[in-house]
Amino acid sequence: MLDKINKLLAEVSHIKAASADEIEAIRIKYLSKKGEISELMNDFRNVASDQKREVGMKLNELKEKAQARINELKEALENNNTVSDDIDLTRTAYPIPLGTRHPLSIVKKEICDIFRRLGFSIAEGPEVEDDWHVFSALNFADDHPARDMQDTFFISHDPQVLLRTHTSSVQTRVMEKTQPPIRIICPGRVYRNEAISYRAHCFFHQVEALYIDKNVSFADLRQVLLYFAKEMFGADTKIRLRPSYFPFTEPSAEMDISCNICGGKGCPFCKHTGWVEILGCGMVHPNVLDNCGIDSKEYTGYALGMGIERITNLKYRVKDLRYFSENDKRFLEQFESAY
Ligand code: DAH
Repeated sequence: MLDKINKLLAEVSHIKAASADEIEAIRIKYLSKKGEISELMNDFRNVASDQKREVGMKLNELKEKAQARINELKEALENNNTVSDDIDLTRTAYPIPLGTRHPLSIVKKEICDIFRRLGFSIAEGPEVEDDWHVFSALNFADDHPARDMQDTFFISHDPQVLLRTHTSSVQTRVMEKTQPPIRIICPGRVYRNEAISYRAHCFFHQVEALYIDKNVSFADLRQVLLYFAKEMFGADTKIRLRPSYFPFTEPSAEMDISCNICGGKGCPFCKHTGWVEILGCGMVHPNVLDNCGIDSKEYTGYALGMGIERITNLKYRVKDLRYFSENDKRFLEQFESAY
């Protein structure tokens, strides 16, 4: 019996198999109930008692070796399969998930592109500003309510240092440094001391446009506004200008566009008026030009400013402003753009 065991021991460590079927056949040959090793186990009863110890140990060794070899063959087969899967060059590639742009970035870029096509270039300024650039130079009277603590975040206790409440401050900085012609747009973040709700936030984004040259008229402003509205909201869009007041423009106006949801017929979104307000604008006040070192007798200009969140809402109907700053992937993933 020992001879038989030794023979099988030599055999099992060399068995080969190329498929799962072959491995199974080997298992049946050696280890199944009627397999060679099982039969040896059955015969073990008949071994003389003085040999039982030696034969028993050998038999166990054989059984373990056979099992180990079968496991080894199985593993090799599995590994081979994965390796060949990995180098299957005909298989389609895994899709690589790409990030999406933030909706405010998409709309900001769209606005800037429209103005760029009209020859405007981009200007930027600091978010931490001083009173002069945000208010005084822009003709805000000392007691103007916008200077109130309610609206403005001041940095420490110095009332001269504050977070800009509008991007009009960039106008001031550019006019101080540059003589006309000036044709700029200024996108950026602004801050106001507001309670956060679905329709107000303590920070939001604006785009400001400014054009200063000789003989710039309100008609030029109106034409640019109409072009912008049609490019942004579609060729059928109509605009209307309502008289308004801003310290830094005279005359001042607010622009409405025909409601892009109902097409002007009236719906809950436009409160059944057919119009929605989108921006403020006007002819730059002569005091502002003079404050910034531009001769108001020689030059005139127009300015306009709009909230990017507002335009984004009109395009994408986002109902709650807070979505824009919560970084919820489920919200952000819904926006795709070619940019
Ligand atoms: N700065 C104004 C605001 O934050 C928006 C604005 C209105 C900008 C009229 C302008 C303008 O340039 O002419 O509400």
